[in-house]
Amino acid sequence: MKLKALELKNFRVYKHLEYSCHPRLNIILGDNAQGKTSILESIHMLGITKSHKTLRDVEVIQSECEHAKIRGSLLLEDTPLELDVVISKNGKKAKYNRIEIKKLSEYVGYLNVVMFAPEDLDLIKGSPSERRRFMDLEIGKLKKSYITYLIQYRRILKERNEVLKGIQQKKKYNHTILEILTEQLIHYGEKIIQARIEFIEMLNDIVQEKYLNISGESITVNLTYTPSIKDNLKEAYAKRQRQDILFGNTQNGPHRDDFEITFEGIPIKTYASQGQIRSMVLAIKLAIVEMIYKEKAQYPIVLLDDVFSELDSSRQINLLDHLNPETQLFITTTDLNSIPMDKLSSYQITTISQGQIKGVIHDAKPKL
Ligand SMILES: Nc1ncnc2c1ncn2[C@@H]1O[C@H](COP(=O)(O)OP(=O)(O)O)[C@@H](O)[C@H]1O
Ligand SMILES: [Mg+2]
Repeated sequence: MKLKALELKNFRVYKHLEYSCHPRLNIILGDNAQGKTSILESIHMLGITKSHKTLRDVEVIQSECEHAKIRGSLLLEDTPLELDVVISKNGKKAKYNRIEIKKLSEYVGYLNVVMFAPEDLDLIKGSPSERRRFMDLEIGKLKKSYITYLIQYRRILKERNEVLKGIQQKKKYNHTILEILTEQLIHYGEKIIQARIEFIEMLNDIVQEKYLNISGESITVNLTYTPSIKDNLKEAYAKRQRQDILFGNTQNGPHRDDFEITFEGIPIKTYASQGQIRSMVLAIKLAIVEMIYKEKAQYPIVLLDDVFSELDSSRQINLLDHLNPETQLFITTTDLNSIPMDKLSSYQITTISQGQIKGVIHDAKPKL
């Protein structure tokens, strides 16, 4: 899958952008706050309907505008394909060849993207909610049914918490409803936990080699899913019901789970240096690229947001070397000197300033 052209309307800093893409390597060059990341964010949203940066979709709508529009013209092998995502204050719409796809879960998967961004360090340094967000996003790309499970789970969880709060405040005690909701929560919770365990196991199988590829270090890395409920869900919810009522919400379950990364058996946060943490994040992302390829028989589009400036030259080269040459790449940078340009053969450099394209260079070696 290749993105041939991208069109943005009222998306962040862009009033209107028409961007024609290189099939292999797109470099987006510009000073800070000119709109480089926004281009990658829009490609991410075109694929997943979600931003990698914010949970609030409306943030991408240009100030004082009603909606933001993203249109991608793509090539799937030789077949042209058009995707649209429109974000408005009332929600989102997605179109496949101009036909609206009502369920966003059905839309996700036409265009696969993997983002490498500075915020990825939160995957290791951040709270468990960052890691859950990562799992949910990545599993959703691999398995459409997972998105449905999540939507159902979140809806039921919200209802169950309302019922618990009602009981806590002694307004009403509807035991039957609590029982039904608990049963439904367990039903979807088990599916979510199972999918996450499988995902983390798959990731674990690949990530060791990717870590070695990126860093050259042969350290034993291990990823394990750490559920907040270790025993049977049904028994656990029965046992914890009194506590849930006391707190007026569901204390445990997949919405509180996490996964743990260890280096040589020691939690990564305690063991690893800054550089090792960076390498680990890259290794995880490279593993995701491979998992998507295995599942879809298509290389995802890879978005590298300001990633090179933080890496030493050997890691920069390792990263490029371990992305399949068929992968279409979008790389943002403030400085071409931070990219190993001599490793690259065919590319396009687009210079961006204040939400506009200022120039495009094709294939020629730029003057550094
Ligand atoms: N909703 C919005 N409406 C208008 N401008 C926005 C919006 N969101 C962000 N911006 C502007 O976009 C610019 C940042 O874009 P970004 O893509 O992060 O830049 P870069 O990656 O080049 O540093 C800033 O100037 C910011 O003020
Ligand atoms: Mg940026």
